Amino acid sequence: MKSLLSKCFFLGMLLFVAACTKSTKEEDTVPVPPKPAVDTSLQKFLPFKVGAAVNINLLKNNYRYSNLVAKEFNSLTAENAMKFSALHPSENTFSWSDADYLVSFAQANNKRIHGHTLLWHQSVPSWVTNFQGDSAAWEALVKTHIQTVVTHFKGKVTSWDVVNEALEDNGTMRNSLWLQKLGPDYIARCFQYAHEADPAALLFYNDYGHEYSATKRTAIINLVTSLKNRGIPVHGIGMQFHTRYTQPDANLAAAINTAAATGLQVHISELDIAVNPENNPSLVFTPALKEQQASKYLFVVRTFNAITANQKFGITTWNVTDADSWVPTHYNRPDWPLPFDANYARKPAYYSMIEGGK
Ligand code: G3I
Repeated sequence: MKSLLSKCFFLGMLLFVAACTKSTKEEDTVPVPPKPAVDTSLQKFLPFKVGAAVNINLLKNNYRYSNLVAKEFNSLTAENAMKFSALHPSENTFSWSDADYLVSFAQANNKRIHGHTLLWHQSVPSWVTNFQGDSAAWEALVKTHIQTVVTHFKGKVTSWDVVNEALEDNGTMRNSLWLQKLGPDYIARCFQYAHEADPAALLFYNDYGHEYSATKRTAIINLVTSLKNRGIPVHGIGMQFHTRYTQPDANLAAAINTAAATGLQVHISELDIAVNPENNPSLVFTPALKEQQASKYLFVVRTFNAITANQKFGITTWNVTDADSWVPTHYNRPDWPLPFDANYARKPAYYSMIEGGK
């Protein structure tokens, strides 16, 4: 009996070894997927351009930042370096160095550049606010600024936010310096000036509030549609989307789909999703909050991805990581609005952006 048991054990061992050998041989013949030479990135996964607003000091001096930007994005916007006060600090001085640095970085790394912004009521240098002149002199000032800037970057900057934030939340025109000095049709003329300087550039009207104010959304769409119908060279709508994790999906969808219904290019131009809109000074960014934020990113990206392919100009986040976001500084509160955390690590929001592009 004992010898029978030991024979069975021996036979069992033989069969076991044979099975192991067979399975190892079969595995050897199964092709192993090649390990990607480089890690995955947003620009590899998303079926449209994905960008970020970049800070030139960080781009120059922080290699973790510049490496992340180079790896993840294929479209770049200057957070501040192409604004009026940055480029044109006094009447006869243009200051190109930071913006040119961005252009060189983008060219070296094969990125599109979106220009932001030719005319805005903020970032206006004091020589302009103090400027004295009649309406022809003001017109010349604006035309010179726009055409000098667009000409400088001609062939390098693909697209421009020509006019930024010209409307109020109640749908009326903002009572800015530009409205006061140039009159109500100044927006159309700015687009014409930009187009004359670079006929190939795509020209956008950029504003915020599409998702939270139906009144403002309607006013923006009416403005852009009327420009288009007059033959003014407007090619796209920039929707900033400085939004929050509690913004209802229906509002976000209404914004994206209404813009797409114009037939123009659609750019979600300054995306960030705040998690502390109530300004709670001691808020903790819990795993649950991270997931809620991620689900809002997913909705935005998925809804954008569903519009007509040739209208998808892209999605740009405003800043790169939670460490360089304008939100905590501007609102003086803790917040974590971006897909990368302050250690440059990918958050759930990052992975949901990728999911939204599938
Ligand atoms: O460069 C000066 C520095 O010399 C000075 O010491 C410091 C002291 O305040 O200010 C620095 O300038 C600041 C600049 O950012 C550069 O950091 C300005 O004060 C500050 O107002 C400016 O804020 C920018 C803001 O636009 C106004 O231009 C933000 O970084 C930028 O994120 C924000 O971006 C805007 C978009 O252009 C339009 N849509 C809204 C979006 C967020 O507000």
